[in-house]
Amino acid sequence: MKHAFSPVTIGQLDLKNRFVRSATYDGMAERSGMVSEAQIALYRKLAEGEIGLIVTGIASVHPTGRISAFQNRIDGDDTLPGWRRLAQTVHGHGGKIAVQLFHGGRESWIYQKAKRSMAVAPSVVLNDPYCDAEYREIREAEILELVGAFAGAAARAREAGCDAVQLHAAHAYLFSQFLSPAANLRSDHWGGNFDARLRFLEEVYRAVRKSVGPDYPVLVKLGVADGFSGGLDFTEGREAAIRCARLGFDAIEVSQGLRGKRYAETEFRCGIRKREDEGYFRQWAREIHAAVSVPVIMVGGIRSPEFAEEVIERRETDLVAISRPLVQEPDLIARWQSGDLRPATCISCNRCFDAILKGDALHCAMEKETSVPAP
Ligand SMILES: Cc1cc2nc3c(=O)[nH]c(=O)nc-3n(C[C@H](O)[C@H](O)[C@H](O)COP(=O)(O)O)c2cc1C
Repeated sequence: MKHAFSPVTIGQLDLKNRFVRSATYDGMAERSGMVSEAQIALYRKLAEGEIGLIVTGIASVHPTGRISAFQNRIDGDDTLPGWRRLAQTVHGHGGKIAVQLFHGGRESWIYQKAKRSMAVAPSVVLNDPYCDAEYREIREAEILELVGAFAGAAARAREAGCDAVQLHAAHAYLFSQFLSPAANLRSDHWGGNFDARLRFLEEVYRAVRKSVGPDYPVLVKLGVADGFSGGLDFTEGREAAIRCARLGFDAIEVSQGLRGKRYAETEFRCGIRKREDEGYFRQWAREIHAAVSVPVIMVGGIRSPEFAEEVIERRETDLVAISRPLVQEPDLIARWQSGDLRPATCISCNRCFDAILKGDALHCAMEKETSVPAP
C-alpha cells in the first residue's frame, strides 16, 4: 500500500494520501441550507477516518439550481459560519475539505416547481427518452448571472477556510447538460459545436479563478461520456478533460455525464462483487491520465485496497475516490491503513441513493443483508 498511502499535491494543496471521499449528497442540511449538527458529526467521522481529501455533497450556488430543501447552500454570506465550522471540524481531525459547487439545471425541476419556479436548462429537448422534467431554456443574461454565482460561491468557500472547490460538471446536472449534444441544442455561442458546448464550463472556471486567485485549488468532476448513445462521446469528453487541464483546473475527477435509464448507465453502478468489477471508469481515467499533466482522480466502484494500489502504482491515476462504501464504513481508509485489507463491505446496492431520493438522511439501508439483486 505504499503508493496509495503516499502524499500527493493538488495545486498548492498537500494531501496525506491518495484517497478522496467522492462528493456525496447527504440530505442532512438544515431546511435553510445551512450546515447542520448532523453534518458536523458526519464530517468529523470522515476526517477521523484518514481520508486524504473529503469532497462535500452538492452545494447550491444559485436558488434556480437548488434540488432539495435539505441541500446545503453556498449562495450567500449567511452560510459562511456553517462552512467555517465544517472546515474547522475537518481540519481539527487532520483532514482536508473541498466544497462541491453545483447547479442542477433541469434536474432541479421538482424542487423548483414546489417553489413555483421553473427549472432552467441550455435547451428544451422534446420527447427526450432520458428526461421528463418540466423546464425552460435559460436566457443569456441568466447564464452570465450563474457564471458570477459560481465565482461568488468559490470565494465564500475560500473565505470559510475550506481547502478547495470542485465544480460538479458530471452526471445529470447543468454543466453536463451544456456539454452534451443531446441536451444542448442552442444555436448561439453557448451551444452547437463542441467549443460552444464547453464554453459555460470554461467561463465559470475563468470567473472562479479570478475570484479565488491563482493559488487556490479548483478541481472539476467531469462527465466524459453520457450513459447512452447519441450523447457526449468519450472522444469529446477526453478533449474536454485536456482543455480543462490546459485552462488551469488543478485536478480532474473522471466520471460519467448524463444518465441513461438503468443504474448500469449511470455513475453509480451495481453489483461490484469481485476485483474484475472494480473501477468501471478505469479505462477513461487511464486515457485521460496519459493525456493531461494535472492530477487525475479515478472514481466508480473502487472497493479494495489492492485495486487502489494497483491503479496508482501503474500510473493509471494519481488518486482514487470512493463514495458508497464510506456511507457504511466512514473509517474504511483508516481500517486499510491499520493493515486490515479486507475490501469494503458495501455491496453497491444503491439503497443509500434510493433512500435520499425519498428524502431520508444518508444512511446505509442494507446493513445486515448480503446480496440484493441489481435493479
Ligand atoms: C447517496 C449518493 C449521493 C451522491 N451524491 C453525489 C454528489 O453530491 N455529487 C457527486 O458528484 N456525486 C455524488 N454521488 C456519486 C458519487 O460521488 C460517485 O461518483 C459514485 O457513487 C461512484 O462511486 P462509488 O462506486 O465509490 O460509490 C452520490 C452517490 C450516492 C450513492
